[in-house]
Amino acid sequence: MISPETARAPVRRSTVEALIRNMPKAELHLHIEGTLEPELMLSLAERNGVSLGFGTVEEARKAYAFTDMQSFLDIYYEGARVLLKEQDFYDMTWAYLERVHAENVRHVEIFFDPQAHTDRGVAFETVISGIHHALIDGEEQFDMSTGLIMCFLRHLSAAAARETLQRVLPYRNWIVGVGLDSSEVGHPPEKFKVVFDEARDAGLLAVAHAGEEGPPEYVWQALELLRVKRIDHGVRCIEDERLVQRLKEERIPLTVCPLSNVRLRVFDTIDDHNIKQILDRGLCVTVNSDDPAYFGGYITENFLAVQRALNLGKEDIHRLGRNAFEAAFLDEERKHALIGMLERFMERH
Ligand code: HPA
Ligand code: ZN
Repeated sequence: MISPETARAPVRRSTVEALIRNMPKAELHLHIEGTLEPELMLSLAERNGVSLGFGTVEEARKAYAFTDMQSFLDIYYEGARVLLKEQDFYDMTWAYLERVHAENVRHVEIFFDPQAHTDRGVAFETVISGIHHALIDGEEQFDMSTGLIMCFLRHLSAAAARETLQRVLPYRNWIVGVGLDSSEVGHPPEKFKVVFDEARDAGLLAVAHAGEEGPPEYVWQALELLRVKRIDHGVRCIEDERLVQRLKEERIPLTVCPLSNVRLRVFDTIDDHNIKQILDRGLCVTVNSDDPAYFGGYITENFLAVQRALNLGKEDIHRLGRNAFEAAFLDEERKHALIGMLERFMERH
């Protein structure tokens, strides 16, 4: 016979699971090139006559056995080679929006890496137009708001970043901000101070990947030299008490990506992840998917993974979900409407 305890446990868990699946969500840390699923990658490869290092979906997934950031980036840039035409960028972006619409995502902020394409001879306009038009269509069809953030590749030079900023200025109204990604260690934020100053002068907001593989010092630099409004990842902040206090006092959000952190060995297992610790310290931490096609899950799967591993309750999920709306680069009216939607949902569930 099933005892009342054993009978109840799964019901309780499925309730939090259902909450995660159904609640309105915002995603703030998502590389659009990292949403390219092997199926679409292979079909674009065929459409464009590009030959890849893998010929089947199974071979591609087998190649996704990363050991660190660099082994991932090598494959990520290889996959991006199938993107040549505006339609390709549109199709990739559309596939992502359709997917997260089904997960009740109501606001997304999307990173793109123009240098990964312009350095292969694809025109900047081709890249940004394809992504932008998919975002516009998504907003219309999915009752979703969107933002686009242009990232500089930090393993390339500061001069190349400044050239890239110049290229986006004619499309200034299509982006909300700039970011900094690619290999963190050895490429500290200070290298990009000038281009971030120029971006701010153009009215753009700033974020930066920091404190993922790199030390807390890089988070300090992102705050003080790049004057970022959010830190992408930032999980290593916990090593520096003064930094934790600063992030808390200024309510600087951290966009954390749990499945990415495990796949790139920032943490050995999901059980070791420190997101609950960061949340309990009172920081504005959020859950995101980073590169879902490569790391094994979209935003819902990231929420479910930490909920199960760290035994998060409804209050934790509520706070993580609300933090994302608060941290979003949105006008007050839309932000207020989305927070209201979340609060009504939480009252009913
Ligand atoms: N980290 C750093 N750079 C990146 C990533 C990431 O997860 N994805 C794409 N560029
Ligand atoms: Zn990232």
